[in-house]
Amino acid sequence: MKIIAYGIREDELPYVKEWENDNQIKIETVPDLLDEKTVQLAANHDAIVAYQQKDYTPELIKKIRDLNIKYLSIRNTGVDNVDGDAVNQYGLIVTNVPSYSPSAVAELSIAKLLELFRKTPQFNRKMKNNDFTWEPDISKEIRTQTIGVIGTGRIGQTAIKIFKAFGAKVIGYDIYQNPTLKEEGIYVDTLEELYAKSTVITIHSPATEDNYHLLDDEAFNKMQDGVHILNMARGTLIDTNALIRALDSGKVAGAALDTLENETDYFNRKLKESQVNGTFKNLLQRENVLITPHTAFYTEPAVRNMVIDALNASKDLIETGHSDKEVKFK
Ligand code: COI
Repeated sequence: MKIIAYGIREDELPYVKEWENDNQIKIETVPDLLDEKTVQLAANHDAIVAYQQKDYTPELIKKIRDLNIKYLSIRNTGVDNVDGDAVNQYGLIVTNVPSYSPSAVAELSIAKLLELFRKTPQFNRKMKNNDFTWEPDISKEIRTQTIGVIGTGRIGQTAIKIFKAFGAKVIGYDIYQNPTLKEEGIYVDTLEELYAKSTVITIHSPATEDNYHLLDDEAFNKMQDGVHILNMARGTLIDTNALIRALDSGKVAGAALDTLENETDYFNRKLKESQVNGTFKNLLQRENVLITPHTAFYTEPAVRNMVIDALNASKDLIETGHSDKEVKFK
């Protein structure tokens, strides 16, 4: 069995070794991301394991199939960067890791909200200037808030549990309602209702064609003044320019963004100051906006599960032609 794993980082190597020892199968690892140039490295392999925010284009998918490779196991959850039509057209079988650690992502939402509320950037700045004063940086408390959770899959459910443990009132919206949460009376009927009632909005939905720029000018206008926004899901869910307008007007009091539109040019890269511009530069200058480079997933248990589950899926595909992690593209 010959599996090649692309984009393998130093922090993933121990988990690859663990899997190799447990399964007595050698994996070829390469640091390069999978693209139309590096795909040639996969020649003579049975399956590809990859992780990346870069697009899996129709050209790339065709090239994988031209190498007579049928299986691609992605070691992350989101498949919005995979061209589903090309997957179906060329008969590629794709698996993902649907649940490597909902806590990893949910916990970052809570951590960032605490940072926003406790004015961490403001006090860090003051401390560096020997300024030991308090005002005007008074904090809110999570227990006094109404948290609106958009997307109540595994990550949303974990966020709900944690926010409830802080004593907050939690409301949720999802087109697919979870029966237990429904019984608990979490759901509101419309996004408009969620916008109107929430003092904090946290997004945990996958990106689809239907929710592109879900939070746009119209949505922000329906929210409470001084709302806080958390996005640990996908950058395309927020119209960044509309968010900037809402921050300028004070409609949005603070935002924590682990995902941003056009982030592939930025995230997990060390850039020069001159390379950071546009909406990134604008947002990075604000103390009430916290940006992290798509790190919500980046915990030890999550990374281990991403590697092990993807390799298991790849092995299942090679051995049986199927995996319970297969992604169906419409
Ligand atoms: C995902 O699992 O979908 C993520 O956003 C993580 C990232 C490594 C792509």
